[in-house]
Amino acid sequence: MTLFDVYPLFDIEITKGIGCRTYDKQGNEYLDMYGGHAVISIGHSHPYYVQKLTHQTENLVFYSNSVINKLQVELAEKLGKASGYEDYSLFLVSTGAEANENALKLASFHNGRTKVIAFKQSFHGRTSAAVRVTNNPKIVAPINEGFDVEFYGLNDIESIRKSLQNKDICAVIIEGIQGVGGIQVPNAEFLQQLNVDCKENGTILILDEVQSGYGRSGKFFAHQYADIRPDLITIAKGMGNGFPIGGLLISPDFKASHGLLGTTFGGSHLACTAAIAVLDVMKAENLVENARKIGEYLIQELRSIPQIKEVRGLGLMIGLEFEEPIKEIRNKLLFDKKIFTGVTGTHTIRLLPPLCLSKSDAVSFLKNLKEVLDSNTVV
Ligand SMILES: Cc1ncc(COP(=O)(O)O)c(C=O)c1O
Repeated sequence: MTLFDVYPLFDIEITKGIGCRTYDKQGNEYLDMYGGHAVISIGHSHPYYVQKLTHQTENLVFYSNSVINKLQVELAEKLGKASGYEDYSLFLVSTGAEANENALKLASFHNGRTKVIAFKQSFHGRTSAAVRVTNNPKIVAPINEGFDVEFYGLNDIESIRKSLQNKDICAVIIEGIQGVGGIQVPNAEFLQQLNVDCKENGTILILDEVQSGYGRSGKFFAHQYADIRPDLITIAKGMGNGFPIGGLLISPDFKASHGLLGTTFGGSHLACTAAIAVLDVMKAENLVENARKIGEYLIQELRSIPQIKEVRGLGLMIGLEFEEPIKEIRNKLLFDKKIFTGVTGTHTIRLLPPLCLSKSDAVSFLKNLKEVLDSNTVV
């Protein structure tokens, strides 16, 4: 059997990771300014994480959601404290798309509506209401029967308000910071007004914090810069530091009932152990604060580099937009300087390093980036 060839690959095989460094099979060391696409939060192979997962693997990897799993309860308690959402409840899944799928479904169960507002350049995952083809009407929400989506520009509150006033919008789904869209940060005033307008019109506000959450922005959730409390918040990526786990934080306005949502793998013993280890390390090492501090330093320094047209972002979620295509800059960073970065579109480099990035790592990245930009073959 061969692999279904859907991913363009760099000719690099990463076989090891420690902290903010990865190593290929030839032993070359790379500075990881990409975090495996915002997934590595506490650093590669953190010793506490390795020890907790090893111990759990020796005892129990998985049993079904039909028996008591105290690790789920411990995770919910720790996540509530870390995020400031102690009064919300938690539904555990395995990926970001699954978290959003369930959020939309729950919103539709709640208000019986099907139309959704989303944003231009948004990205929320690749599943598509798989339940529509599932032959069990009890678990098919109205929204799964095919639904309309209206796309608006970020911050376009006037158009959105007009639409919400029709009182037929099920949910507004918005990223805390748009990731795939090129690191676009919604205005705080826009989010505040959106929150008010949603409440007034019976629309559920879903904050997709799959990429921007878990401390990446320098607060636990990016929307906390706007001081709002959405109805539903979706999480994944940094939650497991590489172990697949996602979740849905649900406001107390939603009532659970048996069978309403469900999954086989969500909240497995091993997944919860990974997520608990992540929260323990984030707390012990003050990683949210580190992301804020190092992010502020990086953004300030990057804004003084003349070849960069625009620097956007918060914390360690940073977009660098260039006038010219960035393919060569990124390749030089990777192959000459041994630094992983991400991209979005053709003109923007994305920085999504582990939250434990040190000041000296940041300094080293800046030095190497400037050398690449100053080399006349590139720009
Ligand atoms: C904001 C956002 N939501 C959802 C997803 C989908 O997550 P997953 O790939 O885990 O399904 C992503 C993935 O990049 C994302 O960036």
